[in-house]
Amino acid sequence: MRKILVAGALGQIGSELTMGLREVYGVDNVIASSRSAKAGLEKVIESGPFEVVDITDGKKLHEVVKKNKVDTIINLAAVLSAVGEKYPDRAWDVNMNGLYNILEVGRQENCSVFTPSSIAAFGPSTPPDNTPQDTIQRPNTMYGVTKVAGELLCDYYYTKYGVDTRGVRFPGLISYETLPGGGTTDYAVEIYYEALKNKKYASFIAKGTKMDMMYMPDALNAITQLLEADPDKLIHRNAFNVTAMSFDPEEIAASIKKHIPEFELSYDVDKVKQAIADSWPNSLDDSAAKEQWGWNPEYNLETMTKDMLEKLTIKLGL
Ligand code: NAD
Ligand code: SER
Repeated sequence: MRKILVAGALGQIGSELTMGLREVYGVDNVIASSRSAKAGLEKVIESGPFEVVDITDGKKLHEVVKKNKVDTIINLAAVLSAVGEKYPDRAWDVNMNGLYNILEVGRQENCSVFTPSSIAAFGPSTPPDNTPQDTIQRPNTMYGVTKVAGELLCDYYYTKYGVDTRGVRFPGLISYETLPGGGTTDYAVEIYYEALKNKKYASFIAKGTKMDMMYMPDALNAITQLLEADPDKLIHRNAFNVTAMSFDPEEIAASIKKHIPEFELSYDVDKVKQAIADSWPNSLDDSAAKEQWGWNPEYNLETMTKDMLEKLTIKLGL
């Protein structure tokens, strides 16, 4: 049985992934960690082992991995796109120096390492439609720069040291458990909360801007599936394009209107986030993930919207 350390376990992905992994691998085999305990996430902190680890502190990270006899590190600690443009120094420190520490500990303690990349690893010169697995990657955000460099660093640790590194390029993730941590695709989460609470939403992303998206249950499956995939079949390892749907604000609003007919969408575009969105693909080609490890998402826009509205109605006590 694996002994897994989830770094950044209290974020949008980690808070759900940790609980899911504890069901599969056993509570004691999944150690949640973050740079500090966070109010509201007691479920994750108290349902199994929890360690305070800032991944920029390589010494502490190493101690925790050794003490808990960890053999698999899932690295979700990061600074996302919009926050990264506000604090590029912080984004570099966590996303690069933190990742370096994770890989070094992985090398020294013989751990597998899973690190998500992002659609942000692409940039304005990338072919935007059906973006290929292998293509031009010249992002113009600090987050994107760290994601491309991270993909390369993970490849390097595999080829040079044989560390079993794996990862996917996630699109925008939509979920109802934990709010997203400051990304460009967050509008596609906010819109559901506002549709239920106020029947209207002012999108910070402009009309007609398409981006790839995915519902959280599919994202969690992607991580566990790739983690357990046959290594002999993996050609890309660290940066598999994965997607489930591509839509713009009008399309997600139309899917919400089927359930809440009075819902109204307006626009209050954020220049910085819009520029980031404009630099990302409209839609990804994820055939390499399908071929090499059987990636196959379950949710599309309509089924996700139905589930999100049902789950959020309960969560918000409406
Ligand atoms: P998030 O912002 O919700 O969570 C990240 C967590 O890491 C936060 O709880 C934060 O407190 C913690 N953290 C930050 N700095 C840390 C440090 N130095 N040490 C330890 N913990 C630290 O992010 P997420 O959405 O869960 O994303 C996880 C990973 O998936 C990231 O690598 C992100 O780039 C990638 N990803 C996410 C999305 C998405 O839409 N959520 C899309 C593409 C890629
Ligand atoms: N959802 C993420 C962001 O917008 C994509 O990596 O930053």
